[in-house]
Amino acid sequence: MPSLNCASIESNVFLSNAKRISSAGLPTTGKDLRCVDVDAEYKVMRLLGEGTYGKVHLAQHRTTSTVVALKHMHKDETKLKDFQREFELSYYMSPHRNIVITFDVAFETKHSYCFVQEYAPCGDLFEAIPPQQGLPEDTVKDVMMQLVSAIEFMHSKDIVHRDIKPENVLVYDEALKLVKLTDFGLARKGGTLVKKKNSSIPYTPPEICDAVYNEGYTSDTSTDVWSFGVTLYCCMTGNFPWEKADIDDAYYNEFLGWQKRKTVKIPSQWRKFSPRLMRLFRRFLEVKPERRCRIEEIHKYADNKWVRRRTASRYATSEINGDRSDSGEPNLTKLNMMFKAAGASAGEGLEEKEFREQRLREWILSLPEGETSGSAHGNTLSVPS
Ligand SMILES: Nc1ncnc2c1ncn2[C@@H]1O[C@H](COP(=O)(O)OP(=O)(O)O)[C@@H](O)[C@H]1O
Ligand SMILES: [Mg+2]
Repeated sequence: MPSLNCASIESNVFLSNAKRISSAGLPTTGKDLRCVDVDAEYKVMRLLGEGTYGKVHLAQHRTTSTVVALKHMHKDETKLKDFQREFELSYYMSPHRNIVITFDVAFETKHSYCFVQEYAPCGDLFEAIPPQQGLPEDTVKDVMMQLVSAIEFMHSKDIVHRDIKPENVLVYDEALKLVKLTDFGLARKGGTLVKKKNSSIPYTPPEICDAVYNEGYTSDTSTDVWSFGVTLYCCMTGNFPWEKADIDDAYYNEFLGWQKRKTVKIPSQWRKFSPRLMRLFRRFLEVKPERRCRIEEIHKYADNKWVRRRTASRYATSEINGDRSDSGEPNLTKLNMMFKAAGASAGEGLEEKEFREQRLREWILSLPEGETSGSAHGNTLSVPS
């Protein structure tokens, strides 16, 4: 049982809100969620982000002047039970330095359930990754070690996050010296029977991509290890490795050939990585979940070089330009576009999304003809919704 002091102390300013503490020491919202007129209690300033499940606003508590983030979930789309689980798990995980602090304040409005978190002033990690370029190796290591620490903490309590991705990592300073994991909306105790409800995204492990919609499977920490591996790739390159971990995906299939040792040829977009980093990817992106390593295995690789020294610039240039190699390897331009496109759908409102789609279309039209046709990934030109 972790100490809950951190969240409790921080939340004292909000003790005017109704609160019950369960016998397990967790806040419970129960049926007696206080109904709040948000505008009366908070000055709501702007939308910070929007994910699949909720909207997060920057707000100032009128009585104390404390600036916070309010996460709203619309009642039409969220069951009280799911809201409570997310709130309680978020609060329970708060003591860790690299997990967002959730205050023990939850309430309802006419249309939404809402809880209160600390505000992260520099957005999320997705916004911090330069597209098609990635972050410098030392920065990636710094960020990844913080993220691993948060995931290790969760796994030590047998909680699986189930939605590890850059959008769910909040940033507190420009240099990324402090990042924190957030969004416990899909988190579950290990071994819980869950149903596949969402379509697969680049971070989804193959065993879940293979699951049929609405089919039951058990939550397992190996899911986070895979998603962490994909997140690491995204941070290093500013691209996705594939659209989804499915054999119909040409990029995934190419990786699979190498992963299963059918070929020693490393797919072109992975060649800038050192043999040690490729070893790490082999362990984290192991297809069989039962053979996948545990998250702490990353510590074995922390002191190694992650980028090949001599060939790095050559491959980096090739990635930025999206060159098609003579051997017919995938055209990375499409992946680069996917990265931008997925970013658009992850955290933007409709207007921004449409604006970005428009820009994407204009950019595609400006490309020479050969660049835009004949790809197995032609369907990635539109922004996934
Ligand atoms: N505490 C916060 N401070 C600043 N921005 C936040 C905070 N919480 C969330 N965000 C932004 O809002 C987005 C959506 O929040 P998240 O909790 O992930 O909701 P969802 O469950 O809908 O994905 C995040 O990706 C991030 O950009
Ligand atoms: Mg999210």
